[in-house]
Amino acid sequence: MPESLSAPSPAKLNLTLEVLSRRDDGYHELETVLQTLELAGAVTVTLDSDAPGVAATGPFADGVPVDGTNLALRAAAALAARTGRDISRLRIELEKRVPAAGGLGGGASDAATTLRLLQRAWNLPEPVLFAAAESVGSDESFFLAGGTAWATGRGERVRPLPPLPPAAVVLFVPGSTLERKTARLFAALDAQPFDPGGVSAMFARRPATPVTGWDVYNAFERVAFDVFPGLGKLFEALEERIGQPIHLAGAGPTLFWIGGEDGAERAVDAGAGLPCTTIRTRTAPSLWR
Ligand code: C5P
Repeated sequence: MPESLSAPSPAKLNLTLEVLSRRDDGYHELETVLQTLELAGAVTVTLDSDAPGVAATGPFADGVPVDGTNLALRAAAALAARTGRDISRLRIELEKRVPAAGGLGGGASDAATTLRLLQRAWNLPEPVLFAAAESVGSDESFFLAGGTAWATGRGERVRPLPPLPPAAVVLFVPGSTLERKTARLFAALDAQPFDPGGVSAMFARRPATPVTGWDVYNAFERVAFDVFPGLGKLFEALEERIGQPIHLAGAGPTLFWIGGEDGAERAVDAGAGLPCTTIRTRTAPSLWR
């Protein structure tokens, strides 16, 4: 049997997400505080496989590309190019337990975990990992850190924050997402005034008290309900049943409730009969620090 390495690839939430400006390169300048969750997929890499390529299994494998556009494979290729390694016999197996294209960073997390596993196999220093991550996408660098972190730039400049007290999280995942939804949401924001900034900085300085929906801010909530059909109705139904604020996860369309364990049951019950998959999880510390 060829030797394989495995590790989890957690989901994330943006606890704050401010969009400050549109840059000349088409990306947007962000301020965001991110947090990894217990909900996680898993990545297995085999360096010398007779069946090279990407395979996706698990409850959210549907529609995950397994060709050269796969983020985990792109990350591996970026790292190999930077370090002169051969990945022609590399096999990457993805156990997809995080909803894809839901705003939870599942693909970016797979990419970061792949980089961590290749780091272990090839004994690589940190900077080349971050360079490869950054070349693949904006969320990948955060997942190399994990836990609670503050990110700026297009999301790739990551500063770890002290861990927050654990919080319960309930995710409400609508059945469908949209093609190029992140780009579409950013474009929709361009038609409106940008955020002045300061919310994430304040969040980063807050005392380590438990996070609730009252603390969360996401700029995409200004436009998401116009872009995702039916999302506004789902949001209203959930908020009315729960009686507390719920929020959009990243660029959506997943919605989430966050708070103490004693409130999670009510949030789970609120999802019953609505057009979404309800997933109970909690915040989790970094796997890597
Ligand atoms: O970086 P990533 O591939 O995840 O981004 C997907 C798309 O979202 C980009 O092509 C870009 O249109 C948009 N984006 C942006 N500003 C960011 C991150 C992403 O405009 N900071």
